Amino acid sequence: MTKALITGITGFAGSHLAEWLLKNKEDLQVYGSYRLRSRMENIKDIQGQVDLVECELKDPRSVDEIIKTIKPDYIFHLAAQSFVPTSWNAPAETLIVNQIGQVNLFEAVLKHCPDCTIQIACSSEEYGQVYPHEVPITEDNPLRPLSPYAVSKVGQDYLGYQYHQSYGLKVIRTRTFNHTGPRRGESFVTSNFAKQIASIEKGLQPPVLYVGNLQAKRDFTDVRDVVKAYWLAVEKGVPGEVYNIASGVTYTIEEMLNKLLKLSSAEIEIQQDPSRMRPSDVEILLGNYDKFHQQTGWKPEIPFDQTLQDLLDYWRARV
Ligand code: GDD
Repeated sequence: MTKALITGITGFAGSHLAEWLLKNKEDLQVYGSYRLRSRMENIKDIQGQVDLVECELKDPRSVDEIIKTIKPDYIFHLAAQSFVPTSWNAPAETLIVNQIGQVNLFEAVLKHCPDCTIQIACSSEEYGQVYPHEVPITEDNPLRPLSPYAVSKVGQDYLGYQYHQSYGLKVIRTRTFNHTGPRRGESFVTSNFAKQIASIEKGLQPPVLYVGNLQAKRDFTDVRDVVKAYWLAVEKGVPGEVYNIASGVTYTIEEMLNKLLKLSSAEIEIQQDPSRMRPSDVEILLGNYDKFHQQTGWKPEIPFDQTLQDLLDYWRARV
């Protein structure tokens, strides 16, 4: 049986990818790695259908052990410190988890299953400071990272390139733009706002919604479209290449907030919370995904309004 390993299976994208693979690729044995004390809530419905293995990516021995045992045909490397603000408070930890964790994975793959195809979750944050004439952003845009997180992703991206060039490792680099949907972690902007709205609707929070920088522009794709792209990346992508995964549409955070507010009848006041502002914020992300589309046929299918509705309903069922 063909074996696929998802690192970070208990996370947002990891859990959606596992579900998608179980539903659409019946001949695949799905393995997932998780860290000690990870919350299992995202995978509670599929826990019996996947093989879970505990792994600490920062520890070469731990990674070597799982790769030696599983010898996967495909790896979707999604585990990461993925929240930008945390990377200012914990820059070293962010670099270690994201970059050294990936080095540990690559070294283990070289040793035990060098034919494995590895998709690595790079990020549109790598583009960082983007100038107006550069949008929509293509893969050959300069990388001007604006946070330790973004630097960590540039490192992951280039390590993917370098291990391919040096050793022929079959690495496919996906630079995914913002993605959201049910199960999005509550620190991220779409989920944070949706949770606040759901809490206000239930009277659990005064009718004041706290926000950070509303002028930033982001290109959002539904996570359920993104995980399909990850499969296509390993199936049809060219090893060593890098691909943008995006919607090709951008909204200010304020426009996104207004869309969410329209889905609720609650009267809500908006207040800026200075602690939500960043030392430097990426002003605009708008991706060109032509290269990936031409290679794989992928395009985003779920409308943004639907994604936001599903996200709000997710929080309404939880708060
Ligand atoms: N989190 C958060 N909370 N962000 C806010 C808020 C708030 O209350 N108010 C405004 N924002 C703005 C942020 O300043 C940023 O410009 C934008 O909303 C999006 O913030 P996040 O949802 O935290 O995501 P991100 O864009 O920083 O990073 C996400 O996308 C990357 C791909 O571009 C993450 O998912 C990364 O892991 C991913 O690589």
